[in-house]
Amino acid sequence: MTDPQSFPSPEVQTAWSGRFAEPVSDLVKRYTASVFFDQRMWRQDIRGSLAHARMLARQGIIAAADLAAIERGMATIVGEIEGGTFNWNLDDEDVHLNIEKRLTALVGDAGKRLHTGRSRNDQVATDIRLWLRDTIDVIDPLLRNLQEALLTAAETQADTPMPGFTHLQVAQPVTFGHHLLAYVEMLGRDRGRFADCRVRLNRLPLGAAALAGTTFPIDREFVARELGFDGICENSLDAVSDRDFAIEFCSAGALAMTHLSRFSEELILWMSPRVGFIDLADRFCTGSSIMPQKKNPDVPELARGKTGRVFGHLMGLLTLMKGQPLAYNKDNQEDKEPLFDTADTLVDSLRIFADMVPGIRVKPEAMAAALRQGHATATDLADYLVKKGLPFRDAHEAVARAVRACEDKACDLADLPLAELRAFSALIGEDVFAVLTVAGSLAARDHVGGTAPSQVRAAIDRARKHL
Ligand code: ARG
Repeated sequence: MTDPQSFPSPEVQTAWSGRFAEPVSDLVKRYTASVFFDQRMWRQDIRGSLAHARMLARQGIIAAADLAAIERGMATIVGEIEGGTFNWNLDDEDVHLNIEKRLTALVGDAGKRLHTGRSRNDQVATDIRLWLRDTIDVIDPLLRNLQEALLTAAETQADTPMPGFTHLQVAQPVTFGHHLLAYVEMLGRDRGRFADCRVRLNRLPLGAAALAGTTFPIDREFVARELGFDGICENSLDAVSDRDFAIEFCSAGALAMTHLSRFSEELILWMSPRVGFIDLADRFCTGSSIMPQKKNPDVPELARGKTGRVFGHLMGLLTLMKGQPLAYNKDNQEDKEPLFDTADTLVDSLRIFADMVPGIRVKPEAMAAALRQGHATATDLADYLVKKGLPFRDAHEAVARAVRACEDKACDLADLPLAELRAFSALIGEDVFAVLTVAGSLAARDHVGGTAPSQVRAAIDRARKHL
């Protein structure tokens, strides 16, 4: 469907126009319609309708022949939508009425019987839950793919020293592999959050009808099983009005985008010629139309930027639900575009990152050079003195004085000769140079969660087993 403004507006009979003395204006029609965005739930809508129709036939509410006609009509509609010949019509408001109307045109009265014991209120709630469940099942493997790409890169870089930063100041040596593993952890939590959201959303609202339930002898458990739900929504009012799952989804999406934006920021920083730790493959960058020398990290910059719209969607949905009285209100139609855009933004970002990570070219010399400039092993020297019996606070003080002396001489701690080092503590001996080296510093952090290359490799193995 293209521009909603371009829809013709013949005098049509809508699904509810019997009650009204005059038609809505074109503007109101366009304002209230959702078909130009909710049509993307058509598969879920048909799946839900077929399960409902099967239940109606099983319960003797509609005839077996009606069910057969509905199934035949829906198969035709699937073909039309997939083939691009389905005529989405603004006059029929939303995806539900568009499909129902076409069904009736195809199979007659059986199509009109489909809506027995159902309302669009429980229908749309069911469709969104099905759509989000399908979407989470797309997102989880994408998160896993990105974790795998990071693990592969981390394995290659398990021994590559780089400065670890706090306050964006050189703090202590870490390996680049260890740094990348931090993102594997974040993405693992994201997967947990989406899985958790899936648990709560996987309940069937259908059967709540408009808000109070229905007078027909329906079998909700049967429909739930047909649609792969773990159970039913217990309360009909809650069933049609609850959008917690949508907020949870956007919240999980906002956090996942937060992680991608942090990673983006680091990639941008690392790729800046001032830092020069990495280079990104050309296909993720663009040039400048005026400055011939430029290679800009557009993809991470855009991911960082797109995080904003996802935050906005979360805030939009929270505000949409705040203060809404029970049960269904038309406000709820506004839940879809934020959800769709959150999913689209995250899916695209995850795909592009999984492709981008293997294209990170690491420049170990630049990382090593940066490590030589920030007294990155100062903590190691303090720890060394503690092991020789000095209380930690005194050791900290002695090393701080040594660092100040280095700053005056514009050299690094590891560059001071032994005699000068001993001026800050007589406990310092020849063995100090083993701890002042980057390799010694890394190897010494040899425990679970530490940056020693052997620990990084063990962490990669554990993470692979969990994926
Ligand atoms: N298009 C509507 C939505 O997205 C479907 C439910 C409409 N129900 C109603 N009573 N108007 O929420």
